[in-house]
Amino acid sequence: MSEQTPHVGLIGLAVMGENLALNIARNGFPLVVYNRTTLRTEEYLAGAAAGTGITGVATIPELVAALKRPRQIILMVKAGVPVDAVLNELAPLLEPGDIVVDGGNSYYRDTERREIELAKQDLHYVGMGVSGGELGALWGPSLMPGGPREAYDILEPMLVAIAAESAYGPCVSYIGPGGSGHYVKMIHNGIEYGDMQLIAESYDVMRTALAMPAGEMASVFADWNTRELASYLIEVTADVLRYTDTETEQPLVDLILDAAEQKGTGRWTIESALELASPVPTIDAAVTARNLSALRGLRVQASEVLLGPKSPGGPDQAKSLLANGSGPDGALSALEDALYFSKVSSYAQGMALLNAASATYSWNLNLSEIARIWTGGCIIRAAFLADIMRAYRENPDLPNLLLDPQIARQSDETVGGARRAIVTARTWGIPVPGTSSALDYFDTLRQPALPANLIQAQRDYFGAHTYQRRDREGVFHTLWYGDEQPAEPVPLQAVTDPSAEPVPAAGVPDAPTNPRP
Ligand code: 6PG
Repeated sequence: MSEQTPHVGLIGLAVMGENLALNIARNGFPLVVYNRTTLRTEEYLAGAAAGTGITGVATIPELVAALKRPRQIILMVKAGVPVDAVLNELAPLLEPGDIVVDGGNSYYRDTERREIELAKQDLHYVGMGVSGGELGALWGPSLMPGGPREAYDILEPMLVAIAAESAYGPCVSYIGPGGSGHYVKMIHNGIEYGDMQLIAESYDVMRTALAMPAGEMASVFADWNTRELASYLIEVTADVLRYTDTETEQPLVDLILDAAEQKGTGRWTIESALELASPVPTIDAAVTARNLSALRGLRVQASEVLLGPKSPGGPDQAKSLLANGSGPDGALSALEDALYFSKVSSYAQGMALLNAASATYSWNLNLSEIARIWTGGCIIRAAFLADIMRAYRENPDLPNLLLDPQIARQSDETVGGARRAIVTARTWGIPVPGTSSALDYFDTLRQPALPANLIQAQRDYFGAHTYQRRDREGVFHTLWYGDEQPAEPVPLQAVTDPSAEPVPAAGVPDAPTNPRP
């Protein structure tokens, strides 16, 4: 094998794989590619990869034979069964010290299982989150590699070269052992779902309550992108809202079916949050909202039966409710504050879940560093990530992001907008589950006294589940019925007689009408 023999191989030439390969080659790392369908490899070598020095092979054994040890083989195949299928074929051909990197959106527990399996052969398995879509893969993604540290050290020069570069350095860092790289990518995606839902809710309030056309909303998002909310997803939103369908000359967004799809990383985030009892209500609301949106047939049917608020008013009333006497720009400024506030709350939930996972799985995650590598390249890149970076750098043991003094002050300054946005949306019957959950998280965290005392009492009443007291140590149970045996349960009476004809009650207002389009 000569000096020129490459170390790097890449398997899987779908959109992410082909662009990542171009990025690696452009940065001076020769590589060999393989795709299950040879025709795709041939087209790629003759097309996008022509003149880049990338070479291709038709089989996995040829790929292994073409690489110098330690081999660094990047899998860019669909998460799930396809990854295991490739590993079954690849692993027996590899030699101790070789490295396999999974750059897909794999479930972190699958990554841990594969790492353990390959380690039996002295192979290193690196589960690496890759974010940034096809443009990111080509020009610089955010990379979240986890697994054996010694493997990362070998890969580092290449990963640093191909990663995005933000004002805070290259967007790659060793995340931690096991499946931590893919876990962090999963949380990135959960936060991405939250961001998208919160933006969609702002859009809905503008569209429905303020009756704003798409072009006008595009300008609002473009304006927001110049301040605290500056981020890739706000920029994307402005571009999308500005886009006109050439055939119909209508805003394309108005023609797109309102049923959101998903590939599962948001759901995994919630499952982990439930397991670790570290709530992420805004991410939960975002996944649930996508699921509800997908029930389009039911929604259309229900829209004819379930009525909304009666005549909440026109755009001027909505503006005035939002602005609450704060001047002509008050309404949009309240929505901007609401979105910023909710975003902060949502990120606080995501970071808290990372903290919980780090403690439970002994990953020793560096939250400041994770925020840093999200400042460029990835889908959630945002100006606000620099604040998160600073907060955890100043206090790595911060119990919750909202407790950072600067972030607490910013939340306090913007929470009024969130309250007004929610009241307005509720008055107009517009669902804002993400924004509401973000505010509920904040309002719950800041309560020294929640009504959970009553829940504990109820549990003890019907199930002798015991409770603790505020005024003394110990575990208590009360005989809530006194010393007497509880009476035999009396069957509940139906409030209304199901066989009776409905009689309109006096003083009940007319059925409300649904103001939504
Ligand atoms: C990224 C994205 C990406 C994800 C898509 C679609 O970081 O580049 O998170 O990995 O696959 O955003 O995800 P859904 O189909 O689940 O919306």
